[in-house]
Amino acid sequence: MQTKESLMKYPELEGEELKEAYEKAVSLVRENLKEFTCDFPCCNSENQFYPKSENVDWTTGFWTGEIWLAYEACKDEKLKKAGQIQVESFLKRIRERVNVDHHDMGFLYTPSCVAAWRFTGNETAKEAAVLAADNLMGRFQEKGQFFQAWGELGARDNYRLIIDCLLNMPLLFWASEVTGNEKYRQKAEAHIRTAMNYVIRPDHSTYHTYYFDPDTGESLKGVTCQGNRDGSAWARGQAWGIYGSALAYRYMKNPEYISVFRKVTDYFLMHLPSDLVPYWDFDFDDGSSEPRDSSAAAIAACGMLEIAKYLSKEEAWYYTKTAKQLMEALWKHCAVRSAKESNGLLLHGTYAKKTPTNTCNNGGVDECNTWGDYFYLEGLTRLTKDWTPYW
Ligand code: GLY
Repeated sequence: MQTKESLMKYPELEGEELKEAYEKAVSLVRENLKEFTCDFPCCNSENQFYPKSENVDWTTGFWTGEIWLAYEACKDEKLKKAGQIQVESFLKRIRERVNVDHHDMGFLYTPSCVAAWRFTGNETAKEAAVLAADNLMGRFQEKGQFFQAWGELGARDNYRLIIDCLLNMPLLFWASEVTGNEKYRQKAEAHIRTAMNYVIRPDHSTYHTYYFDPDTGESLKGVTCQGNRDGSAWARGQAWGIYGSALAYRYMKNPEYISVFRKVTDYFLMHLPSDLVPYWDFDFDDGSSEPRDSSAAAIAACGMLEIAKYLSKEEAWYYTKTAKQLMEALWKHCAVRSAKESNGLLLHGTYAKKTPTNTCNNGGVDECNTWGDYFYLEGLTRLTKDWTPYW
């Protein structure tokens, strides 16, 4: 546990150390390109090394996003070529509907194709990302006003939203921007309003998933899939809430979302252990042998750096400082230092830990995961330059 006072004593990632961390991460991405240009890394490493995979999981966009972040850092044409090869793969995937019957179109198509379109003007990328946005639109449920995350549309046992989906919404705001059609924005705003109403608990921890009645749209209950238990705060879910509320504010300018951001972020920060690398669920604290989830810290840091643009000087200072402290903890305790150690960037992530009461499959425990790598590099990029977000 932390207090505002105890947090103040931690060092921040800046200066020469930040430069070293950023250059190291970019050089590792360039090294890993040899393995992953036509292939993608699996969602998590096995014994710290990612096996190869086709473009089939919800996580492949993160690796392409790392390629674009590294390209922005060093302008190596090999990176640009690899990013373009992967964009072609994303167009093929959405056209052929390869494992796209779920809501994670934003995770897949924002860091890969929206990023490519934003700074290379790649038209294939734009086509792919608009198709992905159209696919996501098909999952909007009028009864309840939300995007159904998983499973057969309308099925009672899957009639729910999940907090992670806040990060899928920027794809829809972008689709409205490039097509001129407001329908994407309207549904994104409706989903955000619903999610904000239901996933934040009175103590400012968050539910992972929230069910609605498919016949009436009435709100039913919050339950977990990947957290320790229904009533606990899954660290990565809390982090999706942090970045998600920051992005919701950026797109909707509703001051309530700044207030949500403060609440969920302060809960996250106050529940950090003494080395600032979160346990995978905030049921656990110093002295526990449970694994950490480094990716949650990376996601949270990016959300804090995003919202800082919209806060008063004093609050911006506080959240920038804490983001730099989280990044320092990641650099110190979790960052890969050599390609011999791992073909990822960030050790000590947890994808899903099975418990007696949650409903996930066990996997990727104390391993790298592609979103941890991506958000770690995004955080380093944000701290190093004036960066235009892909989200
Ligand atoms: N969005 C799925 C996860 O965070 O594991």
